[in-house]
Amino acid sequence: MFTPEMMESIKKVEATRDARMGTEPRRMTAEEKDELLKAYHPDYRTEAFDEIKIGPNKGEKAPRELAKLLHSNSRLLGVDIDLDKIDYDTDVLIIGGGGAGASAAIEANEAGADVMIVTKLRIGDANTMMAEGGIQAADKPNDSPVQHYLDAFGGGHFAARPELLKRLVMEAPDAIKWLNELGVMFDKNSDGDMVTTHGGGTSRKRMHACKDYSGAEIMRTLRDEVINRKIPVVEFTSAVELIKDENGKAAGAVLLNMETGDYMVARAKTVIIATGGAGRMHYQNFPTSNHYGATADGLVLGYRAGAPLLYQDTIQYHPTGVAYPSQIFGALVTEKVRSLGAMLVNVDGEAFMHPLETRDVAAASIIRECSDRGKGVSTPLGSGVWLDTPMIERIGGEGTIEKRIPAMMRMYLNYDIDMRKVPILVYPTLHYQNGGLEIGGEGFTKAIDNLLVAGEAVGGIHGRNRLMGNSLLDIIVFGRNAGKAAAAKSKEVELGTLTLKHIEDYAEQLQSAGVDTGDVSPLLLPKYARHER
Ligand code: FUM
Repeated sequence: MFTPEMMESIKKVEATRDARMGTEPRRMTAEEKDELLKAYHPDYRTEAFDEIKIGPNKGEKAPRELAKLLHSNSRLLGVDIDLDKIDYDTDVLIIGGGGAGASAAIEANEAGADVMIVTKLRIGDANTMMAEGGIQAADKPNDSPVQHYLDAFGGGHFAARPELLKRLVMEAPDAIKWLNELGVMFDKNSDGDMVTTHGGGTSRKRMHACKDYSGAEIMRTLRDEVINRKIPVVEFTSAVELIKDENGKAAGAVLLNMETGDYMVARAKTVIIATGGAGRMHYQNFPTSNHYGATADGLVLGYRAGAPLLYQDTIQYHPTGVAYPSQIFGALVTEKVRSLGAMLVNVDGEAFMHPLETRDVAAASIIRECSDRGKGVSTPLGSGVWLDTPMIERIGGEGTIEKRIPAMMRMYLNYDIDMRKVPILVYPTLHYQNGGLEIGGEGFTKAIDNLLVAGEAVGGIHGRNRLMGNSLLDIIVFGRNAGKAAAAKSKEVELGTLTLKHIEDYAEQLQSAGVDTGDVSPLLLPKYARHER
């Protein structure tokens, strides 16, 4: 299962384990972190970014792959879409069938609005489903939302939008209560109290989890609720362009049936973009922990319609993606593995960083170890460092891995690697887009009336780096709020004549800027997908 070189290195990891038990490398100073990030974090590789040539963020930088999507034309340019022929008519149109979309749908339905979800794959095919380690909320006596705010604000380099972060932390305890009441099976002690752990950058144990499949359990529950409420879900159907009305307000979307290739018109009084992340763009050729449909679609739809982006140049590389075996390259190794006591160690068995530094710092530290320091372990696809998982059994007692992170254990056992007995090899993987469409506290975009955004497609909640467990939280908090706000707003909306003129305007701007990628966007499915459209 391991190469001879790996076996040699494992002996060194085992030889240093006793000495490492009970000691931890010190945390880095702010100056050390800054220096490390600038030298090794992928966000600082200037050659990996392009300037955005048109639109509200003109002149700013974006990952090259995203800039290309923003510089591409609509697939509807020159296509005759009959906007008088309405296929769906609703109060609230939700684009995206992940955790944010489902939460929004439940609350909009609860508020009495007509609501419909459209999703290019199936409901639940989303990054929510892939989330493992947990969801943060300050709901224990030794904690407070203020403490949560300070952790997240510092971890995000003081760049989070205060009104958004405040909402996130203040509404977190209620989000947990809501999920618990909907039926999410959180880990609990025998007295019924929630089990909570640390994550990178947290000053209190506030990570609530469902073993190491927290996202799957939350998505299962939300999906059941959507189905039980009989909320219409149109699957295998992509939104390919927003529709506006003659007054420039969001008024629906043009939908593409992914199976037949037919276009349809969905008219809506309010629209919520909840399309999730961008891992399948494979920025800088990184592998990804993201689900198959994570292709930044919502950012393109919103931007082409005139909504600004925020922090589109900052991406989260989860420090511990699978580096070996190759079959699961880039898959997520939950941060909870480190919360439970596993240390990151190099080829010589040396611990080179505190295991619970924030993610950007941890990722940069691993990249430094594997590059300039030459202390990585070679793998068929590159290199990695060890995550010394047998330490978990030593700290928590035999059986801890099976009890607390069973999915992780099974994933590795599929490849004859028993993480209870041997360490595992990890390297950063593309995990999360910190940036996205800019919203105000109620979830509305600032530039386009009646257009809301929730979940990973939002920029600014976390600043320039997100802490573990704050994403499952934001999809619930901002998903629920968007659903409520959209339902309330839809009561007062009178739609004017529908139009797609913004597509032609965008094409003209591209032409004036001399930009011609020859491509269309949104991408909808990864480049390597077998699809014709
Ligand atoms: O490591 C993890 O389990 C990931 C959690 C997150 O991104 O919040």
